[in-house]
Amino acid sequence: MKYTVKQGKWGVKDIETIIIPVGEKEAYPKGAPKAAEVFYKGAAKRKSFEGKKNQLLFVGLPATGQNILRHALFVGLGKPDALSMREFGEIVGQAVRQLQAKKFSKAGFWFRAELSEYQDSVGDMAETVAEYAELASYEFNTYFKKKKPVMKSFSVYVDKKDDLALVKKEVTKGAKIAAIINESREVANVPSNDMRPKDLAAFAKDGAAKESGLTAKVLSEKEMEKLGMGGVLGVSRGSSEEAQFIILEYKGGKKDDAPYVIIGKGITFDTGGMSLKPSKYMEEMKYDMCGGANTIAIIRSVAALQLPINVVALVPASENVPGQSGYKPGDVLNMLDGSTVEVLNTDAEGRLLLADALVYARDYNPKVVIDLATLTGAVAVALHDAAAGMFTKSDELAEALHAAGESTGDTLWRLPLLDRHKDLLKSKVSDLANIASVPYGGSMTAAHFLNHFVAGKYPWVHLDIAGVAWQGGGTKSLAPGATGAGVRSVVEWLREEATK
Ligand code: BES
Ligand code: ZN
Ligand code: ZN
Repeated sequence: MKYTVKQGKWGVKDIETIIIPVGEKEAYPKGAPKAAEVFYKGAAKRKSFEGKKNQLLFVGLPATGQNILRHALFVGLGKPDALSMREFGEIVGQAVRQLQAKKFSKAGFWFRAELSEYQDSVGDMAETVAEYAELASYEFNTYFKKKKPVMKSFSVYVDKKDDLALVKKEVTKGAKIAAIINESREVANVPSNDMRPKDLAAFAKDGAAKESGLTAKVLSEKEMEKLGMGGVLGVSRGSSEEAQFIILEYKGGKKDDAPYVIIGKGITFDTGGMSLKPSKYMEEMKYDMCGGANTIAIIRSVAALQLPINVVALVPASENVPGQSGYKPGDVLNMLDGSTVEVLNTDAEGRLLLADALVYARDYNPKVVIDLATLTGAVAVALHDAAAGMFTKSDELAEALHAAGESTGDTLWRLPLLDRHKDLLKSKVSDLANIASVPYGGSMTAAHFLNHFVAGKYPWVHLDIAGVAWQGGGTKSLAPGATGAGVRSVVEWLREEATK
């Protein structure tokens, strides 16, 4: 979507409708279209629209002349002190999706001076408006002959001249990051017949080429064999598609600054392999590369913001399908760190792939490593779609990331790493097994498996995004499909790190 920021009144030719945020029980805003006043007051009288949080009032204005705006959408913000930045964003997103569904292609947003009563930061609000508008406007349209309507332009009108420069800057930033996230959502939504490991690698390379300071390279299976990445190669063996180990590097900091390493699970389709999954919902396993796609979005966002830090993104990409030469239950894999793993279930493939990446990350002497993965169905049992599961031994990282999640609306919730669960990964024939000996605590035992390969070498956070990576039916402010989970919280956290 195209964004413009202007000071003063909207021109009727520039937009088809104006979005007007109002507080609870607010008198008719001075400067709003005159013709809408009777509708606004009538709705208030009937109590059908009182500016309560998430209420919407769409008004078609009487066409009394050429130079009159034909539509207005009032959106309720509720009471000032009870509105979070996330809720504000979701209200904007909801407005955009409603208008888009009505085939409006040009909307305006009145960034009223009164909004600063709601939040003290005009800049944050401006960024939030653009970010949520852009995320809301995305539709997965690729495979339709008749496309769903998508909004084309979004104009933000500020009251105060003093705010103009700041709002412009923040709108540009918010829209840019959201557009990067949307590209990753698209790649995640594309089904596995068009999104093989090589396609994901091509996407990463193309993305890197678009940002300055970002470089890409990809390790082939041959190179992985030389290194001894038995985890990635074991998972990939059943597929005729070659696995890819994608490496993106961003250098924004000093040459010797220890980098932040972000790792994403890139399973372009997870059938479960020989331990085949049931057919019901199996199609959703095209999303098993969301961690990888979102990792690419994180490092691209960092580059787009030109943060003064060094960041590396690692995305091991593979299919997990049964095949004549595929790995089988009982097989023992030789991992990159020299550990041996007994595969008791070929459907627990993500951890095998990530293990090699976690070991590979050691060579960077990382400051912190964060991995994002649709790792376990169990995390959705625990947290549903309300939050990603967060595992770390560091209270400090857990607190900082949780706070970043709260402020962006990309929620992270800490779950424990307990010794009791670690002990369940014992194998009778190798150093450890890839699944636990009990069917309980699946997200925790998976996190322990990863922790074996972290081996205390660096501070580490694991984000299990299996419950939040996609929304089958969409939400009020997002289209059905991939959500970009984990991107905004990690980017927000990195922005804070960059100021240290
Ligand atoms: N990709 C799945 C996890 C998953 C399941 C994500 C459902 C989203 C929705 C992962 O590879 C997997 O299959 N995990 C198994 C682990 C089990 C075999 C220990 C699971 O969660 O059932
Ligand atoms: Zn699996
Ligand atoms: Zn998987």
